[in-house]
Amino acid sequence: MNICVIGTGYVGLVTGAVFAELGNDVICVDSAAEKIDLLNKNKIPFFEPGLEEMVVRNRNEERLSFTTDIARGVRASEIIFICVNTPTLDNGETDLAYIKSAARDIALALNGDKTIVNKSTVPVGTGDLVLETINEHKNEGFNVDVVSNPEFLREGSAIRDALSPDRIIIGASTKKVAFRLMELYATLEAPILITNLYTAEIIKYASNAFLATKISFINSIANLCEQTGADVEDVARGMGYDKRIGRDFLNAGLGFGGSCFPKDVKSLLSTSAGFGYRFDILKHVMETNNGRAAHFLELIKTRFPDLNGKTVAVLGLSFKPDTDDMREAKSIEIIKALLEESVIIQAYDPVAMQRAREMFPDIRYCRNAYEACDGADAMLLVTEWREFRLLNMEKIKNSMKHPIIFDGRNIYDPERKKRLGFEYYCFGRGKWPKSS
Ligand code: UDX
Ligand code: UDX
Repeated sequence: MNICVIGTGYVGLVTGAVFAELGNDVICVDSAAEKIDLLNKNKIPFFEPGLEEMVVRNRNEERLSFTTDIARGVRASEIIFICVNTPTLDNGETDLAYIKSAARDIALALNGDKTIVNKSTVPVGTGDLVLETINEHKNEGFNVDVVSNPEFLREGSAIRDALSPDRIIIGASTKKVAFRLMELYATLEAPILITNLYTAEIIKYASNAFLATKISFINSIANLCEQTGADVEDVARGMGYDKRIGRDFLNAGLGFGGSCFPKDVKSLLSTSAGFGYRFDILKHVMETNNGRAAHFLELIKTRFPDLNGKTVAVLGLSFKPDTDDMREAKSIEIIKALLEESVIIQAYDPVAMQRAREMFPDIRYCRNAYEACDGADAMLLVTEWREFRLLNMEKIKNSMKHPIIFDGRNIYDPERKKRLGFEYYCFGRGKWPKSS
């Protein structure tokens, strides 16, 4: 099938590459000329494991190409995916300006009947808006169907998630239109749910908001554990054995960041309010999450009431492992607060340092975790990259000024760290020290 994908961000580029891999002819379009230039040189604008190889392979086999010319992409394709960004406005609403402009550009380029598929995460009713915008601008005679087909891929495992999804959701006005899209997914083994547009749009938000709720819930349990001496890791394990609950997304720590959870929870709150419904649980989910970095800093301040001039190693800068994405990363809040206290920061991240430099040009970036910990008064584990679980802790201990770990992701075993001679602090595993 001939496919056009509009927007070559995380979602669009992975979608385009995977559909090409499945044997389709794909044209990816982006309005950012510098991104398209990079892609045409086989360079990926962000880090995502396995993506570069897939893009290069499919470009070489001439199934995948990149352009800024949206009209060319639309004219050559039967199915057009919209994957542009949908940021949050200051009032909490979702900014649909890019979606509308993509719909208008599609309409102006139409040369036949097309199926337009919304993959961007958009509030319920946006499918109608896309159709109205296209109908307003298109020439008579061409028929357009709009489908919602939300994407559930996670950064860092996007290719795997796209090739082996837990489910495929298709929201369409008729079964006939939905079947057109089903053909594209025929080779993937995944349950397919066909439903109406509004339901598909809500499924995406409901899923992300529910996962975010799980995280804030376990973080609230961690707070309680800190008061009582219980261990949140065992609580999560004990809850997770129950198949109705499951262990996934019950990792206590600094909370969620990234381009999706914070944005989607806020958007669902605002959409609900727009319909006159107060979705109060989600307000608390956000409040709990927004308090995590401050809670971590409170713990640090309990140990170091005066941080002025202290040297701190910050391990991990991206919002989660296996990505260089810094959007809503907890590291940002933590580094800002430490800089206000005149802390000397020695940071290390396996791939996100280039992006971090744009935000924090003046902190010291290190070649590895050992260099970051060298001479430090404390180590702050902020993102749980796998390599941080495998460090030679003896070496780290000997190089630090004070062997103190603040583990923002609960990745280490407290007893083991104490046996090795570290002072070790984390979330929800035993009582917190009282401030002096
Ligand atoms: C984005 C949204 O954040 C998410 O909610 C949605 O589900 C999918 O799109 P992501 O792919 O991570 O996710 O966004 P981003 O990396 O910002 O990529 C969007 C791309 O669209 C950018 O490359 C941007 O240049 C491009 N774009 C934006 C256009 O090509 N045209 C536009 O008018 C606007
Ligand atoms: C998420 C959804 O998982 C995905 O389905 C959707 O399409 C896009 O949004 P992503 O943002 O890439 O994916 O990452 P995810 O792995 O879900 O993690 C989000 C955040 O939650 C990260 O900051 C992570 O550190 C945090 N998290 C995750 C926790 O704090 N605890 C957990 O138990 C799990």
